[in-house]
Amino acid sequence: MNNIEKVDHSMALQFTINGVSQKIERISPTVTLLDYLREYISLKGTKEGCAEGDCGACTVIIAERQKRNTTYRVINSCLLVLPQADGKHILTIEGLACKSKNRGAVLEPIQKSMVEGDGTQCGFCTPGIMMSLYAFYNSNKIQTDKNIHEALAGNLCRCTGYRSIVDAARQERTFTKKKAISENLSTVAEYNHDGQRFFKPKTLKELSKIYSTYPSSTLLAGGTDLGISFSKDRKTTPLIIFTGDVKELGIIEETKEALTIGSAVTYSEILPYLEKLFPSFANLVTRIGSDQIRNVGTLCGNIATASPIGDTLPCLMALNSQLQICSDLGERRIDLEDFFISYRKTNLKKGEFIQSVSIPKLNANQTFKAYKVSKRYDQDISAVIGAFLVEFNQEIVAKTIIAFGGMDAIPRRANQSEKKLIGKTWNEENIYKVSEKISKEFKPISDFRASSTYRNQVAGNLFKRFYFDLLDPNKPNQVVDL
Ligand SMILES: Cc1cc2nc3c(=O)[nH]c(=O)nc-3n(C[C@H](O)[C@H](O)[C@H](O)COP(=O)(O)OP(=O)(O)OC[C@H]3O[C@@H](n4cnc5c(N)ncnc54)[C@H](O)[C@@H]3O)c2cc1C
Ligand code: FES
Ligand code: FES
Repeated sequence: MNNIEKVDHSMALQFTINGVSQKIERISPTVTLLDYLREYISLKGTKEGCAEGDCGACTVIIAERQKRNTTYRVINSCLLVLPQADGKHILTIEGLACKSKNRGAVLEPIQKSMVEGDGTQCGFCTPGIMMSLYAFYNSNKIQTDKNIHEALAGNLCRCTGYRSIVDAARQERTFTKKKAISENLSTVAEYNHDGQRFFKPKTLKELSKIYSTYPSSTLLAGGTDLGISFSKDRKTTPLIIFTGDVKELGIIEETKEALTIGSAVTYSEILPYLEKLFPSFANLVTRIGSDQIRNVGTLCGNIATASPIGDTLPCLMALNSQLQICSDLGERRIDLEDFFISYRKTNLKKGEFIQSVSIPKLNANQTFKAYKVSKRYDQDISAVIGAFLVEFNQEIVAKTIIAFGGMDAIPRRANQSEKKLIGKTWNEENIYKVSEKISKEFKPISDFRASSTYRNQVAGNLFKRFYFDLLDPNKPNQVVDL
């Protein structure tokens, strides 16, 4: 009998909601936390707007004890399936106001500000907004307009025009203490229901073994891509392996040469490292979805999805990144550039998964910048992503990588344009020539995000923008203003 068969199949999921213990035994593992709240325990304050992570009406908080501190992470409950909540403490809108014997419900200060400032009209978005602002005020972020806007980027409101909400958020209030939560709970190794199996391996070895035994399983990291198949399409996927509990996949390692990021590391977790080492990449990551998405979504999930408009792929390509691929049979390394074969098809073989991605640090002669062009600044998918690395030998271009997303079926380098620039002087005349070449090197599709002509023109112009930005390094790195 192997390890997998020794797993205790009677295990139930456990988590708390507003401090109340929940034991889950006879519910499908692909039921979302949102459906559980609304349909199983009648906590209907958390709303369903879009069921795909866009509107934020379903926002709840995951509270975690880290040493002496309690951290709050906002997430979209429509994209989280129940086994992902296993071992966690969840706060919903019903848990925000305190109950007082004499005074009934005592609102949190931010709730009071919203009531007093008419920050709510139809009210559908309000619970999600309250959760986002409550988490924001309990983080160590300063109460600036920029930070308030960022905290609200994942919450859509169709009625108020946001002014009254932002005004409420600006109010100076003494905020109450964080809610007390009990110790972190233990988690199960496997959860089964009605023919569906959800594995929760804790080590790389366990993950490799399970995946080699059940190679048709679906790997689940943050679920910000996959979650939509559960919430919107109501798919009851039979075999799922969750990577989020695997210790080795949660590592972030910085050496003299490179930054290595485990495949279960979330965007929010890597941001401080990117800000230090690759600020322009960090800036682009802050435009991926919203806090709700970045708090669970992973860089490696973005890579494995292999979307031609995945924001991080051209950046990682331009930065010469490498992937560590793992399976029960061993490990191998591959340049990220060779990972993408055709539209959403990758180089992964049966039983293989991404262990980590390594990004070499820039040397003193190298510069890197990334640009995202989308219709909306926040929470929008790109039409074109450009990521550029250039290495100088004095004024001469010694090396360059010009990578794009949104220009082909896979993220791609502009190889011919790169060749045209090597050995040339980095000046306006040469950049304009290369920019023209870039505009002719691809045959992008036209779709609702952008026409082919627009994409070609933008790709060339982004490279010009790169040149001018390097002339003025203090210029903010934004294509679309706030
Ligand atoms: C509202 C919203 C906004 C978004 N905005 C953006 C955006 O602006 N830019 C952008 O690029 N993306 C965006 N996304 C897409 C998504 O957030 C990213 O692609 C994210 O990085 C996916 O990571 P995840 O951990 O959630 O992956 P998951 O959904 O868990 O998995 C994605 C895929 O990767 C596979 N996978 C996961 N881990 C591994 C592994 N270790 N090895 C091999 N395969 C693996 C899964 O099987 C699945 O096929 C958005 C999504 C939503 C819902
Ligand atoms: S219901 Fe819209 S983000 Fe979840
Ligand atoms: S108050 Fe109606 S959607 Fe925000």
